[in-house]
Amino acid sequence: MTSATTAMTVPDTEVLRDALGLLKDREQVAERLLDSSAKHSFDPDAELDWDAPLEAGKWYWPPELVSLYDTPLWRRMSVEQQQDLSRHEAASLASLGIWFEIILMQLLVRHIYDKPVTSAHVRYALTEIADECRHSKMFARLITRTGAPTYPVSRLNHNLARILKTVSTTPGSFACTLLGEEILDWMQRLTFPDERVQTLVRGVTRIHVVEEARHVRYAREELRRQMVTAPRWERELTRVSSGEAARVFSLAFVNPEVYSNVGLDRREAVAQVRASGHRREVMQSGAKRLTDFLDEIGVLRGAGRKLWRSSGLLA
Ligand SMILES: [Fe+2]
Ligand SMILES: [Fe+2]
Repeated sequence: MTSATTAMTVPDTEVLRDALGLLKDREQVAERLLDSSAKHSFDPDAELDWDAPLEAGKWYWPPELVSLYDTPLWRRMSVEQQQDLSRHEAASLASLGIWFEIILMQLLVRHIYDKPVTSAHVRYALTEIADECRHSKMFARLITRTGAPTYPVSRLNHNLARILKTVSTTPGSFACTLLGEEILDWMQRLTFPDERVQTLVRGVTRIHVVEEARHVRYAREELRRQMVTAPRWERELTRVSSGEAARVFSLAFVNPEVYSNVGLDRREAVAQVRASGHRREVMQSGAKRLTDFLDEIGVLRGAGRKLWRSSGLLA
């Protein structure tokens, strides 16, 4: 009897100690992120020169990161047409960014609904929501300034995301957050230092990279904790739902309307992007930091891994 009780209490105590350790760790991470937010946050309306004229002959996105780069179609295009495509793709990615950020804001609001309002963890979530508000306004202003249209995702994806942002549980929400943030972040890190790119685009991506690094940290730490503490069904659901999100994300990444809008045959362009080895490499390199992390914490297993493979983001 005694030994059975001991055997039962030991793991319980350990679980409790681990849980307390994780919560303490959660507060420490949030405190550090709040400190960094206080030091390095930007007001894009004041920080960037929105009235400066756009520069002739410059790209709106590094050419190597434009979807058609190095395809037979690309080689037939004039530099002007290639640069015009980069303008439309930048607007398409900014539109995708706004879509993601609006979803993310709702996920964060749902995440903190039941949590202690004075905790650093909740205060940081509110700080991140405020960052995303500024980012979405900044991206919208960029789209307007480039003169390109907005590029919404398809009705189907729009409505799939409506379901996801309403019902998804915490680990699934943070896995999707990282999917949205890390690949675009990888591209933006290559964009802001690139002197071939428009100054305004460089300014927008620089602000986003600085503030986004904290969001990635917050989401990673929370997802790591969740993959230890969440019940088995929820971890399993996270594997499948993040794989499905990766599949949808890779299809929705660039709106194919961009090709028609620069005078290309849309179907031919989409087919060439799908067949492009360069593009596959770009997308997999962009996702690598994320997929390595997800693999390490046990998200890329079973059926979920197959979905990740089919998205083309996992080699
Ligand atoms: Fe953002
Ligand atoms: Fe973010």
